[in-house]
Amino acid sequence: MLRVLVASNNPGKVKEIQDLLEGLPVEILTPKALGIELSVQEVGESYAENAALKAMSFVKKSGVLTLADDSGLEVQALGGEPGIRSARYSPKPGASDADRRKYLLERLRASPRPWMAQFKCVLALATDEGKIQFTTGECEGEIIPLERGTNGFGYDPIFLLSDHNLTMAELTTQQKNKVSHRAKAVNKMISYLEQHL
Ligand code: IMP
Repeated sequence: MLRVLVASNNPGKVKEIQDLLEGLPVEILTPKALGIELSVQEVGESYAENAALKAMSFVKKSGVLTLADDSGLEVQALGGEPGIRSARYSPKPGASDADRRKYLLERLRASPRPWMAQFKCVLALATDEGKIQFTTGECEGEIIPLERGTNGFGYDPIFLLSDHNLTMAELTTQQKNKVSHRAKAVNKMISYLEQHL
């Protein structure tokens, strides 16, 4: 089995990645399972920079092949915000996902609908020798003012998929993994992972 550390403390992301890699001879490890406590400051100016920062920090600390995800939501009417700041998009200290959705909707209230949006994901796979590979994925949709669905995480309940009359939070993990930005990026990463098998 190939051991791969997923450099994330976000259980939603880890579960999706784990399900996407099911069937491969890969053992997914988390920082918690390895007893690693490391908080990486996401000071990069792009998803790729932040994904690389996380992957390199965790591979250095663990010595285990490391996969990091940096992702975010880009809303056209807000000039691409919250983007790389998606996880921190609220002025409230200790804000929750629900607080961030509420804040996003407040920011959008003055703009005419539809509020077109995209999820973006960049994955970085880093080796102990300092080599790094990137893949990307995108998913098109629209922000809606009332939450629908209880699955997923983050902005899922207010992200209506373009080709379905369903929000991301109305999909099961299996369904989300057929269409999401993260699924597209993970599927492209499989051939790089296979090089390590
Ligand atoms: P980061 O990659 O740790 O900077 O966090 C990405 C943030 O973007 C998450 O905390 C969510 O707020 C948002 N995000 C990324 N991917 C998704 C998704 O699949 N569903 C909902 N929100 C997401």
